[in-house]
Amino acid sequence: MERYYVTTPIYYVNSTPHIGHAYTTIAADILARHQRQRGKDTFFLTGVDEHASKVARVAAEQGLEPQAYADHMQGVWRELPSRLRAANDFFIRTSDEGHKRFVQDFLQRIRDNGRDDIYQDVYAGLYCVGCEAFKAESELVDGVCPEHDREPEWIEETNWFFRLSAYQEPLLRLYDERPDFVLPRFRANEARSFIEGGLQDFSISRAGQPWGIPIPWDPDQVAYVWADALVNYLSALTYAREGEDLRERYWPAVRHLLAKDILRFHCVYWPAMLLAAGYDVPHQLFVHGWLLLDDRKISKTLGNVVDPLDLIGVYGADAVRFWCARSVSFGQDGSASIEGLAERYERELGNDLGNLLSRTTAMIARYRGGALREAADASSEIAAQLAPLASDVAERLDAYDITGALERIWDVVRGLNRYVEATTPWTLAKDPARADELDRVLYDLADGLRAVAVALHSYLPEASARILDALHTDAEIAWEGVAYGHTNAVAGIEPAPPLFPRIELQGS
Ligand code: ME8
Ligand code: MG
Repeated sequence: MERYYVTTPIYYVNSTPHIGHAYTTIAADILARHQRQRGKDTFFLTGVDEHASKVARVAAEQGLEPQAYADHMQGVWRELPSRLRAANDFFIRTSDEGHKRFVQDFLQRIRDNGRDDIYQDVYAGLYCVGCEAFKAESELVDGVCPEHDREPEWIEETNWFFRLSAYQEPLLRLYDERPDFVLPRFRANEARSFIEGGLQDFSISRAGQPWGIPIPWDPDQVAYVWADALVNYLSALTYAREGEDLRERYWPAVRHLLAKDILRFHCVYWPAMLLAAGYDVPHQLFVHGWLLLDDRKISKTLGNVVDPLDLIGVYGADAVRFWCARSVSFGQDGSASIEGLAERYERELGNDLGNLLSRTTAMIARYRGGALREAADASSEIAAQLAPLASDVAERLDAYDITGALERIWDVVRGLNRYVEATTPWTLAKDPARADELDRVLYDLADGLRAVAVALHSYLPEASARILDALHTDAEIAWEGVAYGHTNAVAGIEPAPPLFPRIELQGS
């Protein structure tokens, strides 16, 4: 059976979720739900990154032990997938015992690989706590990290280093042999030219910091947060299911989703570490852009936080998912706005989709007493519109084109609306001689909506279920359902309540 393992980055536990984090979680969930619909053996992992030095700092400011602080904050983060209706299979915390044990084993494997890939040296240089990364002078703008608007700190200590430089050639070969290793292609080129520019060994440990995973052969040092965090993608598989080791099943069938800020860690450091530890490299990495809000990068450090949980409270998870998937072409940078969310909610979800369901069910109730006759006609216009839908959408989602796949589904939503206008069932209903024609139109509308609802399941899990329910189908969401003619005769269809009711905002 085909395997599909998808991950989000694990988010820094000390911050609070903003729409940028929701963005990756939504994208991963859309892909995971979709692949599950297609019957693939799917695993979706998300979670939190707890061993950053800023975690210990913030905890100290609040007079808490880092673990107590992380225990509290992880609860905030667990709410993100849950409120987004993301169906993740596991939520990892890097303070899980299973993760800690695995990281130690992983680092030990690199140390023992017989190639002297881990060695001791003095690190002296600049460190940006925002990035949790060492910085070269050339990466700074006016002496500050451009990403975080803050001066890096001078660090000088004896650390354990990973011989990344030894992996320049193997990585270049990997990029040459697998042109789809990193997508989109321009991101692969970015990673490749970074590798070509020469790779420097990096420190994988920190001295004098009690918060972190002890280096197994030198417990006075803890693992550098990235040497710990990246390993989560593998460690989770060893303990997510009690008594089971899922590595055999899901590794290397993994698709890592991430934004461009952490491209080097994922596309360069991580495959090198895996090779050094004797593991296969990931199947694929997809690097998406920044989600900008009103043209500014949404980031906690810059202060323009938009709380996705607040947005869900007002518009619902489906609308937030829809807006994120639709506003910006996935992979590109782009901006979204709250006005855009309100507008899409009303125009696309409320009118295009919601009204279509209201009208269809109301007409079946009114003209046919709620009974839908089996009137499939393979030569109908709706049959023609649905014919290429399943493969078009699947093809786009296999290529991470979340936006394009949704646009393709929306073509059919718009097509169904045009079909209502063109066939004017209310006219047909007045003419008893055209009863068969009306039956066919009502069937096509109901069946078209059903097929669209199945296709939309991964984007709008709640609305999709409500549409299927209103149409009294047996809520079959398997991907085969994205095809014409799967609706059977049913009775008892009632006018459906609004799928996306109007929202009266306070004060408006
Ligand atoms: O980097 N637009 O965690 P993090 C799009 N702990 N995506 C965004 C975004 C935005 N404006 N803001 C955040 C870390 N993201 C590390 C990762 S993984 C082994 C360790 C998303 O909390 C995007 O996926 O800073 C980005 O890569 C991630 O959040 C960074 O989250
Ligand atoms: Mg960040």
